Formats: sequence, C-alpha cells, structure tokens
Amino acid sequence: MMRVSIIGTGYVGLVTGVCLAAKGVKVVCVDQDIDKVATIMGGKSPIYEEGLDALLLSTLDRTFHATSDFKQAILDTDLTIISVGTPFKDGKINLDYIKTAARQIGEALCEKNGYHVVVVKSTVVPGTTDDVVLPILEEASGKKAGRDFGVGMNPEFLREGNAIHDFMSPDRIVLGGMDQTSQEFMARIYNNFTGIDILRTNCRTAEMIKYTANALLATLISFSNEIGNLCGVLPNVDVQDVMSGVYLDHRLSPIMENGKRVFPSILSYLAAGCGFGGSCFPKDLSAIHAFGKQLGLSMDMVGAAINTNLKQPMEMLRLLKKHFYSLDGISVTVLGLAFKPGTDDIRESPAISILEMLIEERAVVTAFDPVAADSMKRIFNSSIAYVDTLEKAIDGSDAILLMTHWDIFDKLPVLVAKQIKIPVVVDGRRKLEPNKFECYEGIGRYSTSVCDR
Ligand code: UGA
Repeated sequence: MMRVSIIGTGYVGLVTGVCLAAKGVKVVCVDQDIDKVATIMGGKSPIYEEGLDALLLSTLDRTFHATSDFKQAILDTDLTIISVGTPFKDGKINLDYIKTAARQIGEALCEKNGYHVVVVKSTVVPGTTDDVVLPILEEASGKKAGRDFGVGMNPEFLREGNAIHDFMSPDRIVLGGMDQTSQEFMARIYNNFTGIDILRTNCRTAEMIKYTANALLATLISFSNEIGNLCGVLPNVDVQDVMSGVYLDHRLSPIMENGKRVFPSILSYLAAGCGFGGSCFPKDLSAIHAFGKQLGLSMDMVGAAINTNLKQPMEMLRLLKKHFYSLDGISVTVLGLAFKPGTDDIRESPAISILEMLIEERAVVTAFDPVAADSMKRIFNSSIAYVDTLEKAIDGSDAILLMTHWDIFDKLPVLVAKQIKIPVVVDGRRKLEPNKFECYEGIGRYSTSVCDR
C-alpha cells in the first residue's frame, strides 16, 4: 500500500488527504498548528466543505491520521505532497511557505533510507518545482534528485463546494515529473482511480496547465461581463438573449447523432454577472500576470480579465444609481456575501467592493447570506446591519442587490410583492425573472425607465 504524507491541512491538503485515504492510500496529514491537528483527529474538519466531515470520520485512524510530527511523517511514507498556501503579495506570488516546507522535507530526507518522491500540489508559477523546490531539497538533504529522490508537480482542479466530488471523480489527473520514476510513483497514489484521463508531463508544463485552466475560465467570465455591460446600454438588448444565440454555435453546444444538443457546463462561465471572486481566480490571474510581465510579456488579455473584474461591481452601482438622486440615507439590502453560493468563503468576493462603495455613499446597508455573514463581520462590523432571514433583510428596503444566487432567493418575487414600498431589485447573477418584479434591473439588460415608486 502506498504511504503518503501531506504538508498543510488547508482546504486542498485536507480534501486530498481524506479522499486519498478513502481510496485506500495510507495518508498522514501534517500541520504545525497543533490545535488544527487535534480538531482533525477529533473527527472534525477545520474548514467547511460538503461531505468532508463524513469522509474524515470514515477514514480516521484507519487509512487517515493527522500529526504535527513533521519528520516522522516523512520517514514513515513513500511520497510527500506539498499543499501549503501561495498567497499573492507585494506584486508577486509568495513562495515562503513552499520554501519552508521544502527545507523541512529535505532535512527529514537526510535521515531517510530509500527512495522518496516530493510532489508540489500548491498552485505555483512555472519553474517553481524545478528551480526552487528541487534545489532546496537537494541542499537540505545532501542527496541528489533523480537518484535518491524524485520530484513532481500534481495540480489540483477542485471547486469549492464540490471538492470531494471533483477529487473522487476527476476530469483529469496531471502528473508532472522530473523523470519517469517520479511520475510512476505519483501514478501509484491514483491506482484506484480508473477510467480517468491521466496526462504525464514535466513539472513546468503541469504548473502552466493549472494557471491556463483558471485564466481561461476567468477570462470567459470577464469577456461575458464586458459584453453584458455593452448590452446593458443598447435599447432592447438583453445579454441573456445574445448569449443564448451564441451558445447555439455547434462548437459550444455540439449536436449529437440523435439530433439532441448538449449544453456543456462551460457555458455557465459565458454568462454575465457581477464578477468573479474566491481564493483562486483573482490570485492565480494576478500571479501569472506578474510572472509573464517579469519575463517581458505584456500579458494584455489576463490583465484585461483582471481589470474588467475589478470594475464589475461598479456596474451594479450604476444600475442602482439610475433610481436615486443620491444614496445618502437610502436603505440598501445586499443579498449573498460569499464569492459564490454554497460556501462561507468571502475571499475576494465582489460583495466586498459593493459594501465598500455603499458605505462610502452613505447608504444604510443591511446584509444577508445564509452562511457567510459571520465571515463578512470580520471586515465590516458596525457599518452594516446583518440579519438572519431573507424576510427581515428586505423589509422596508429601498433597493435590493443580489450578489450571489442561493436557491432561497427564488422566494424574492413573492416576498418583494408583499412590500408596501416597492424596492429596486438589481440582479447581479441574472437568476431572477424580470417580469416578476415591478422594478427590476439586471446586469446586461437594457431598461429605460426609472421605476415609478
Ligand atoms: C476554481 C476552478 O473552477 C477550479 O477548477 C480550480 O481548481 C479552483 O478554482 C482552484 O484553482 O483551486 P472555485 O474558485 O472553487 O474553483 O470556484 P468556481 O466555481 O469556478 O467560481 C469562481 C468564481 O467564478 C466565483 O466567484 C463564481 O461566482 C464565478 N463564476 C463561476 C461565475 O461567475 N460563473 C460561473 O459559471 C462559475
């Protein structure tokens, strides 16, 4: 049985560890934070992810355990996955955690007999595994890469909220290795994943695949938002109708032999909205943008995807301001605070920019999110009123901004209809039906009138 140690029990590390353990690999997750280790060993995940607690409980003490004993974890295993944070700081990716992990692994390898493979899973700019991690490992261990140990890069493609599913039923497994032996070792941890496309390549290409995948998705969103904003000022044009026509291109929705069309899920990234957020897209785009610039490339497309996204919350404000002379004293409800539904993660959420702008304009802001309010309180505390039901959130409101779409917001037409004062509803996700509201504005949808309120 393959034995794997994973450095870092963050989102990716823990999901990877528990999922591999569920697939029969013997896993030990390592974290220097002893409280975190204790929580995990108590059967509780320190982060919220659908299905993770259950999977942790079913593998705990059987194929999975956590420890803060770094050295022992390396000595007891055949392969180590580095899964630590790679924040974007001071205009570039910060590799401090990666470097520290590599050094500690190298020091442990010093005492290890037998071959070992070190795999980077964190998202890192191309060249990091070969040019940063490998030399540190060699220096700290006094051993030779390719002879005494192997090095690889195995990017993750996990969506928050769907991470367990994405890991257990992956669309691809990318194995970047410095040599064939490293790739072989990495492939062994995925022995129980059958029928999955496995791409074997070098580390630099694996690193580049990860950035390219995220940059493409984010660029599609920004492209759709730019088109949406244009549609929004064209009489009688709605971006949703425009995109419906575009989706019918057989290259986007192939027609099968039985004559039926398939509408792939990629089309959801070709829809206009109030912008993307999260811990991946914004950070990864900034990192690859800065990386390309460093190499003398202008990186115009990625730069435009970033800038369009930064400006997109302004479009929500533009639609809102069509209806008010000033926002001073106007009661505005913000619905959905996380960067997407199904999570309490507010990192880089477009709702943050909206809240900042509303506060700046002296609006009286009420916010509601089924799970993310507590996270947002850490940024905006007394300047915003948080409520715990949708009903309370919209009661007496002059305007409602929908920033993420939770299913519960489908109740809005009924709830809004009961209001004495008719609020303007600004739909940032285009999930609501315009004709169900007396006063509706949506990203990418032209409307002339200022509602009669
Ligand atoms: C993203 C990628 O989808 C994963 O494939 C990748 O592995 C992951 O980043 C990562 O690098 O770790 P995630 O950030 O969880 O995953 O979320 P997505 O569901 O892709 O959403 C990202 C942002 O795009 C959100 O703000 C969301 O609201 C926005 N989005 C997403 C849209 O505007 N439209 C969509 O159709 C999907």
